[in-house]
Amino acid sequence: MKITYYGQSCFAIETKGKTILTDPFITHNELAKDIDVDSIQADYIAVSHGHQDHIADLESIAKRTGAKVITSFEIHSWANKLGIENTHPMNTGGKWEFDFGTIMCVNAVHSSSFPDGSYAGPAMGFVIWNEEGCVYFAGDTALTMDMKLIPMLCPPLDVAILPIGDNFTMDVKQAVLASDFVGCKRIIGCHYDTFGFIKIDKEAAKKAFDDAGKALILLDIGESI
Ligand code: NI
Ligand code: MN
Repeated sequence: MKITYYGQSCFAIETKGKTILTDPFITHNELAKDIDVDSIQADYIAVSHGHQDHIADLESIAKRTGAKVITSFEIHSWANKLGIENTHPMNTGGKWEFDFGTIMCVNAVHSSSFPDGSYAGPAMGFVIWNEEGCVYFAGDTALTMDMKLIPMLCPPLDVAILPIGDNFTMDVKQAVLASDFVGCKRIIGCHYDTFGFIKIDKEAAKKAFDDAGKALILLDIGESI
């Protein structure tokens, strides 16, 4: 699996010849100004919830690439109304086998509404796996005991993508606990530094994970691992 960071919570996960893009938010992200949104390829787009910093580029990328949008029933219905027809509705607790592997929707403790304030269904995280690996993409979430269910239900995680920016989601201390709950020592941080409320001390964040015997990877925007 190859994982590329496009800022905030947007990643491209390439596996078995397919690209799964998460939470597209690029053109309104000052930190991602060097990324050409029209060059981003996707076969699937997994959308965790309806907030602007997770869907701003969904319509343009979905329509240009024809990628299948995997998301809550409510965001699927909203996308259909925008003319995005290739969608797969899911809900928390459900899983589905796609041609690249399995996606399971897991609980995220967060709100979810569209930019006009209307209801966007549950906020979710995704566990994505196949024989090449297993990734937990937490979405926007608080620390929750429900994370302990993930190792009971899914293959062992190779990497967990966790929000660490505080204010709207977990902070670093909670993310260290979350990585204990999901049984993963390799963490990719997201949802930090994009705007003022979520600025973090990156060296302190890395040290907190290091002190817990874990590795926090903070990718540059455009960087792959
Ligand atoms: Ni959010
Ligand atoms: Mn967010």
